[in-house]
Amino acid sequence: MKILITGAGGLLGEALAARPPEQWEVVALTREELDISSAGTVREALERHRPGLVINAAAFTDVDGAETRPDAARAANTNGPRNLAEETRRQDSILLSLSTDYVFDGAKGEPYDENDTPAPLSVYGKTKLAGEEEIRRLNPRHFIVRTSWLYDNRGASFAKNALELARNNEEVRIAEDQRGSPTYVPHLTAALALLAGSENFGTHHIAGSGGASRLDFVREIYTRLGISTPLAAARTSDFPRPALRPANSELATARRDAIELPPWREGVAEFVRREAAGKDGEGG
Ligand SMILES: NC(=O)c1ccc[n+]([C@@H]2O[C@H](COP(=O)([O-])OP(=O)(O)OC[C@H]3O[C@@H](n4cnc5c(N)ncnc54)[C@H](OP(=O)(O)O)[C@@H]3O)[C@@H](O)[C@H]2O)c1
Repeated sequence: MKILITGAGGLLGEALAARPPEQWEVVALTREELDISSAGTVREALERHRPGLVINAAAFTDVDGAETRPDAARAANTNGPRNLAEETRRQDSILLSLSTDYVFDGAKGEPYDENDTPAPLSVYGKTKLAGEEEIRRLNPRHFIVRTSWLYDNRGASFAKNALELARNNEEVRIAEDQRGSPTYVPHLTAALALLAGSENFGTHHIAGSGGASRLDFVREIYTRLGISTPLAAARTSDFPRPALRPANSELATARRDAIELPPWREGVAEFVRREAAGKDGEGG
């Protein structure tokens, strides 16, 4: 099947484009090659390439920046999915679009499944949720995949920042009052390949299994890598940021046809193995 990937210069898009499943014929387009916020450009690209499936990995992901640039966030996160949904529907093709745990407010004391009601706290979360709604409205042949706390051996991520912090500080302070589902990108790309080959349309939560606080996550990375920089527990309020984050955005699934990822610690183990081997995730 011919697959068109948007946002191919980003963390997830680049990983998907670098190691696609064998059966995929991939057209991977960066923001410069396809700006999804322009309806005309989306139509032109989809008419030229005629993909059977579009994977939308493009997004405005600067959670704090979105607070002061809501129009830019809306253009990519709401109008982009709308344009892709409209055009894939017109061509009778499928849209798989990524969404986020930040559609939830974090007040639930347990993990969130697909039946929970979103209530985003930030402009980023609101624009992503509005993008989901446009897709549901416009193309029934869709997969909306909510994921959480992505990291890989290349690209920018919280995990990579934590390694940088250990190199440059005598002590590292990490929030212990934010819970989520750390998701290793190679685990997610494998799941997306399976999902894309199915007809299990609708909304899916796909993230590393089990929950972790930011501090648990960093502790696991440091311990496995033998990093001895002391770690100290902090509160989210110790690091004031423009956008509110959910205190708990751990994802679970209620779907019978769910594709479950390995426990998040297995993702860290694989991440650490590659870091230690000096691999950036490309090739073997
Ligand atoms: N990273 C996480 O922890 C996380 C967690 C939950 C959900 N997600 C979701 O997962 C998906 C992939 O995220 P990611 O981490 O790979 O993000 P990323 O690294 O920021 O990549 C997003 C890519 O989209 C591009 N882009 C922005 N606006 C665009 C537009 N109008 N048209 C085309 N491309 C555009 C960006 O280009 P520029 O860099 O040039 O702007 C960037 O290359 C997103 O839907 C995100 O919301 C991510």
